[in-house]
Amino acid sequence: MRHLLALADLADEEVEEIFQRAEAMEAALAKRDVPRAAQGAIMATLFYEPSTRTRLSFEAAMWRLGGAVISAPDMKSSSAAKGESLADTAKVVSSYADVMVLRHFWDGAARFAAEHADAPLVNAGDGSHEHPTQTLCDLYTLRRAKGTIKGLTVAIGGDLKRGRTAHSLVGALARFKANIVIVPARGMECPEWLLQRLAEEHGYRPTVAREGELRALARDVHALYLAPARPHQLTLFTDAEFDLRERLADAAPITLDALYMTRPQRERQDATTDDGVDYLRVDAGTFQDPAMRHALLMHPLPRTDEISAELDRDPRSVYFRQAAYGVPVRMALIAFLLEQRAAQPRAARPAPGDRGAIRVGPRCANPNCITRREDGQSERRFRLHRNAEGGAHLVCVYCDHETRIEVIGNRKSRHFHVYEEPMFGYLEAWLREDTLVIFDSVKQAEEAAYKPYKLGPQKAIMSAAEIERSIGELTDHIVADTPELNDLVVVGIKTPGAYIARRIVERIYATRGAEVDLGVVDVHRAAEGITRWPGSAHDGEPIEVGDRLVVLVDDVINSGWTAKDALAVIWRAGRPRTARLAVLIDRGHRQLPIRPTYVGKHLPTAPHERVRVRLRELDREHRDTVVIYSYVDPKAAA
Ligand code: CP
Repeated sequence: MRHLLALADLADEEVEEIFQRAEAMEAALAKRDVPRAAQGAIMATLFYEPSTRTRLSFEAAMWRLGGAVISAPDMKSSSAAKGESLADTAKVVSSYADVMVLRHFWDGAARFAAEHADAPLVNAGDGSHEHPTQTLCDLYTLRRAKGTIKGLTVAIGGDLKRGRTAHSLVGALARFKANIVIVPARGMECPEWLLQRLAEEHGYRPTVAREGELRALARDVHALYLAPARPHQLTLFTDAEFDLRERLADAAPITLDALYMTRPQRERQDATTDDGVDYLRVDAGTFQDPAMRHALLMHPLPRTDEISAELDRDPRSVYFRQAAYGVPVRMALIAFLLEQRAAQPRAARPAPGDRGAIRVGPRCANPNCITRREDGQSERRFRLHRNAEGGAHLVCVYCDHETRIEVIGNRKSRHFHVYEEPMFGYLEAWLREDTLVIFDSVKQAEEAAYKPYKLGPQKAIMSAAEIERSIGELTDHIVADTPELNDLVVVGIKTPGAYIARRIVERIYATRGAEVDLGVVDVHRAAEGITRWPGSAHDGEPIEVGDRLVVLVDDVINSGWTAKDALAVIWRAGRPRTARLAVLIDRGHRQLPIRPTYVGKHLPTAPHERVRVRLRELDREHRDTVVIYSYVDPKAAA
């Protein structure tokens, strides 16, 4: 069954075929003589997110082709509002229809739903991941106006971090050999997975123009050059890169064929995104520059205020035409998919993302990935990817997000090891033998009863009395820095960090008589947010962190990634007035610029060493102790 989940699901000649059909559909619409290519067929449109263009143009296309439409334009009026899973919804609705169109707020939702659907599924936008049919409209618009896509120079500006239309378009332009300038708004740069894909699939590394350079583009035509060594690659230089510009003085200045603007995706705002204070805006002045003389102004719409309305009547503004092409392009696509289905009703065609997938693995690191939201019904699947620098990553089959490999284990020996680059050979071998397990963390491996490859005995480095004293000191410092204890929220990172947080809260109650809110964060279940300590007063009620003084607590800080993930969960819950971090042990080796506010013990360690905090609440022998041990090469251990 053919789905359209990403543009990669269509071969080059199929894209061309769809464009030719779209031109024929345009002519047929003009003559009011449209082929009844969907006579007797039903399309189901499921839109978990609002839409004007995509849903209505798909539905208009289906009606024009003589088909019928069943629609859930607002999922609040469907059983999704009662908590029905996407998997079940896709299974059921696909039994009512010949083709399904899905828009969803989670990345990878379309691929996931397609795995459960019995009819071809079209991705009408999945979170901030992809929007392939918008790209078909965009490419069609370019092709109609310029006659070709190959060799065009297209600048794409705005929210390239969360803009799914931009993600699909960038990939497609690279594939069809256009030149791309990416001009992200500050803090809204292209995600790593997209740049990685461009490099690997198309040998393409676009130079990213920095914030404010769109204005430079308008001001200085000579700022834009084709890099002569790779004519397929465009580079935008700034004053800061004057020397480089000088060196390329022989290169021919070029003009833009299109400027594709996107709006800030405020509905996907998170703590890490600067919300467009310096967002790019295009007005009549931008188009006075000679570099822009022949440039089309494009936008997938809806726009906010990134394109001035004064440009609407400019013949180069094609955004309304882009939207109108939605009907003939989607008519062509529907006819194509229905024909494919009729020709190959049972032909199983693995989705491209499935090749070489690893069926073991941790949670995808992307908190908006479908696999973290429909955990019960989704498999976690990854492709193993090794970058040029030798680092290894897992790439999620659903959302393309990269997840760092932290801890690998061998199912047969039931031993685990913190992953280091020289271990790539083991990774591959264990994967081949089907003995590879990848854990989110050492904690997860330990909780699964895997034993570390270790050298020598464990050495105790903190006694029960020292741990108790350290927690007491942490508590005193936190209280001293908190003028009003009612404002304090203590949040422990599951699992040892949560127990330390509980001891801190109990101490505050015992010494100050103040009841402080106690929350728990599981960074591997970020979607659950901050939960209250089970069984505590108000259990089940949300913890308010907005404008409060949050203290995050963990047992050990090392790279900083866990603290960063936990802070992201807190930011999603609200904006605290302050967020402080308290840890029992800081062992260094930071990969992120995160510094704990309160530290029980600084413990310099070697990278191959592991520090484990054992707390009486979790320990089989009901003891408090901190131990250290070393890892060794798994082969040496064997
Ligand atoms: N371009 C686009 O996807 O528009 P809608 O959100 O209105 O469908």
